[in-house]
Amino acid sequence: MSANEREFDIVVWGASGFTGQLVAEYLLGRYGVEGSFRWALGGRNELKLDAVRDRLGAAELPLVLGDGTDEDSMRSLAERTRVVCTTVGPYATYGSPLIAACARAGTHYCDLTGELHWIRRMLDAHQETARASGARIVPTCGFDSIPSDLGVYYVQGAAHERYGAPSRHVKCGVAGFSGAMSGGTVASMLHMMEAAEADREIRRIMADPYAINPEGEREGPDGPDHSAPAYDADLGQWTAPFVMAGINTRVVRRSAALRADFYGPGFRYQESMLTGTGAAGALKASGITLGMNAGMAAMALGPLRRAVTPRLPAPGEGPTRQQQEEGYWDLRFWAAPPAGSGARPIQARLRGDRDPGYGSTSKMLGESAVCLAQDHLQSPAGFLTPAAAMGQTLIERLQKNAGVSFEVTG
Ligand SMILES: NC(=O)c1ccc[n+]([C@@H]2O[C@H](COP(=O)([O-])OP(=O)(O)OC[C@H]3O[C@@H](n4cnc5c(N)ncnc54)[C@H](OP(=O)(O)O)[C@@H]3O)[C@@H](O)[C@H]2O)c1
Repeated sequence: MSANEREFDIVVWGASGFTGQLVAEYLLGRYGVEGSFRWALGGRNELKLDAVRDRLGAAELPLVLGDGTDEDSMRSLAERTRVVCTTVGPYATYGSPLIAACARAGTHYCDLTGELHWIRRMLDAHQETARASGARIVPTCGFDSIPSDLGVYYVQGAAHERYGAPSRHVKCGVAGFSGAMSGGTVASMLHMMEAAEADREIRRIMADPYAINPEGEREGPDGPDHSAPAYDADLGQWTAPFVMAGINTRVVRRSAALRADFYGPGFRYQESMLTGTGAAGALKASGITLGMNAGMAAMALGPLRRAVTPRLPAPGEGPTRQQQEEGYWDLRFWAAPPAGSGARPIQARLRGDRDPGYGSTSKMLGESAVCLAQDHLQSPAGFLTPAAAMGQTLIERLQKNAGVSFEVTG
């Protein structure tokens, strides 16, 4: 059956999970059951999906059953819908048959993974198949890495307007956020640490600043991730390493490679936490760096990891509704003017009106799925990034519907 004649436009796969339920609730609230697209809840457990549907008060929403680890079941899922929007993770454990099936069936795909080594493995295995079938495969459509990726795309748009050319160097500083982790995210992080501990090649991929760039383009001017407190004169504040930079910077660099026409050659990108000015800013930067390095070291060592795990949220658990609604995130961008132009740098700000990981992520993922299903995108097929797949169209959707603001501030 051709992709246009399928039973559904979107299946929310993993709709019984903590984040999947939020995505379903968002789509229902914003678009209804029988709006401009046909959609369904998917997962492996009919009783749980039924309960979710009851809670949502949407008895008419169809259910799609299957098992993420079963290839036939994932083939059938991919052939029934035009877009799969999946929150079934850890993706390296449960996600490979689905992405393979979507690449084969010409089914667009978006997810919430931050598992860099898995993205690289899937890219190496299925890029050509997806290109040939017409599938747009778009991982990292949550807090990692939409704000960083679309933030840079947005400032490059401003650079084209202001300078008539892209900026060759963009920095992002995380000014603040408030939220908590879910059990699924904890499971994915633990899985990634275990995989890295066991496999030197995975450690090499995770340390490579260009790990998911197109083959033959895995070199460039950017070096290793920021790992120490430092004063950044461009951002005007002290900075510390940011925990998500390891995935976000790779996604942004892939976007720059896929959209070289828009980002220009020799593009550079860094991301860090902003900690303020003066002695207090320096002290905070040192404290965050110390805390983050200690946390990473503890998670990297098997015995310490196993000791800490029981105190963390279990699968299905996550921040309360109040924590999500009171949460926020705030990112600042700095983009260099063309060398020798004497022009002033671009300053921009992105803000989200919910906690980053769940309230905001569920809206960003839901809008990505609708964008893939409904919008007239110019991007080619294959493994893309949010910016390379959906760029300005998704920025407009997020501004209009998902509580994300984009603003040039200087
Ligand atoms: N990038 C971001 O900003 C961001 C934010 C939030 C979450 N995430 C990621 O999203 C993923 C989900 O997190 P979560 O907290 O929502 O997890 P969760 O509550 O544990 O939900 C996981 C979902 O996967 C389903 N599942 C597990 N194994 C399956 C299988 N073999 N076949 C079909 N379905 C299966 C579960 O079904 P049952 O209910 O039947 O067990 C459940 O629906 C994680 O990888 C997390 O890291 C990323």
